[in-house]
Amino acid sequence: MAKRVGILTAGGDSPGLNAAIRGVGKSVQGHYGMQLIGFRDGFRGLAENRSMRLDGDRLSGILTLGGTILGTSRDKPQRMQVDGKPADMTGRIVQSYRQNRLDVLICLGGGGTQKNALHLKQQGLNVITLPKTIDNDVACTDTTFGFDTALGIATEAIDRLHSTAHSHHRIIVVELMGHRAGWLALGAGIAGGADVILLPELPYDLQRVAEAIRQRVRHGKSFSIVAVAEGARSLEQASRIEMLETEKLQARNKQQKRRARRRLAALRADHLGNHTVRLSEQLERLTGLESRVTILGHVQRGGAPSAADRLLATRLGSACADLLAREQYGVMVAAVGESAIPVPLEEVAGQKKLVPLDHPWILSAKRVGTNLGD
Ligand code: F6P
Repeated sequence: MAKRVGILTAGGDSPGLNAAIRGVGKSVQGHYGMQLIGFRDGFRGLAENRSMRLDGDRLSGILTLGGTILGTSRDKPQRMQVDGKPADMTGRIVQSYRQNRLDVLICLGGGGTQKNALHLKQQGLNVITLPKTIDNDVACTDTTFGFDTALGIATEAIDRLHSTAHSHHRIIVVELMGHRAGWLALGAGIAGGADVILLPELPYDLQRVAEAIRQRVRHGKSFSIVAVAEGARSLEQASRIEMLETEKLQARNKQQKRRARRRLAALRADHLGNHTVRLSEQLERLTGLESRVTILGHVQRGGAPSAADRLLATRLGSACADLLAREQYGVMVAAVGESAIPVPLEEVAGQKKLVPLDHPWILSAKRVGTNLGD
């Protein structure tokens, strides 16, 4: 009997998802004669049993398409909004997996998806995951598809901001995606020649950032580009967040814990929504230069995947088919050098690959005189 393979895409979309669906699909069908069934909108589509056939025709012409033909969502099996209330849909997912007579489920996603896939593995389902995210923060893999494309888009944006910043003698603070991990801000900041790069991993000293900009002015450079990751924070903001985290940990009862959690969530939300604009205002005040903000947002996730992402997604997708044929389940297909290596989900789930402060990219940025706020 031909194997029946389910596939879904979960979490934020990422360029290269369609290339990966095609990579898996063409390999399992053409090479191994298996059947591929797509589920719409991530784990929600599986819970609601909304599927689509992914036969040869449906897989043609999608290599270069952005987004995902399956649709995606951030829904988690254990906590899905149903009729406006959170519900554990794990049982429904297991039922749908059985009803569809699946031999295995392929989940394409980032850090959250790895955790959700492990949860389903623990319910007895056969699962394999592929690492995608523009944030490049999935553990145990050299890189994730989507990152290279976003890096290209963000770099081009920084290139373009240079000429306008230069012409108006302004600071331009450009915000890049990345709540916890600064790979995108760091990579695009270096490639685009940003003068200051601020990362979530390295809380910054506002005075030092301002001084770096003033020093540029003294050297005849009356403009500066500041590349800031969404989750970057000043030393002050970092210690405020740390204080609330400790308060949450030390809470003596449920009520105290809930209050600390709420305050922490409010602080984080306010930070994510307003930090970049506040930073721009502060720099304007401290340097006397005019400052403007550019938030790149979802532009970084949109459009056609780069050649490198198409290649990576195809490599990982087709390697996934080999694992299916060998029935090697419960793993993520990781990119390690030129190889695609299965890594047990237990090792990946719950881990985040942050930028280590001694990473060669950090050292290079410092050597060429980029200010990292420290
Ligand atoms: O998927 C990762 C990511 O693009 C992050 O870089 C960003 O912080 C987040 O998703 C945005 O999520 P959403 O599209 O749900 O607003």
